[in-house]
Amino acid sequence: MGKLLLLNGPNLNRLGKREPDVYGSETLQDIEKNVRNVLEPYQFQLDSKQSNHEGELIDWIHDAEGKYRGIIFNPGAYTHTSIALRDAISSITVPVIEVHISNVHKRESFRHTSMLAPVCSGQIVGLGTKGYRLAAMYFLESNK
Ligand code: DQA
Repeated sequence: MGKLLLLNGPNLNRLGKREPDVYGSETLQDIEKNVRNVLEPYQFQLDSKQSNHEGELIDWIHDAEGKYRGIIFNPGAYTHTSIALRDAISSITVPVIEVHISNVHKRESFRHTSMLAPVCSGQIVGLGTKGYRLAAMYFLESNK
């Protein structure tokens, strides 16, 4: 039936090993599996991509047009810097939910600003890796 895109930006390939006190012990593969489990009963499929390169993320956002019901996007540190990713999101009609594993508002002040939030449908912050599953549930609810 429907298809969602899970996009993860820089350093998120290191989940499981990277600062486990901040990001927990689940790997990106665990996250993908858990999101697929949420979608499966609803016959929704998931494509998952991760890149450490801004341009590659931009290309994937452009390519998503017409293919997906929604994008679950953790842009990593590009959240706080990338006008180019913001413009890419604005250029498509597919709704995007921004997800952050950690509560960025409890952390350094440079993490308090998101360049992308104003052009996303919503933002899920600080709920750990559950945030990805909650975003998937939102898209399921919105596509009934
Ligand atoms: C993050 C928060 C960002 O500030 C950070 O640069 C990341 C991960 C999160 O999921 O909590 O790489 O997006």
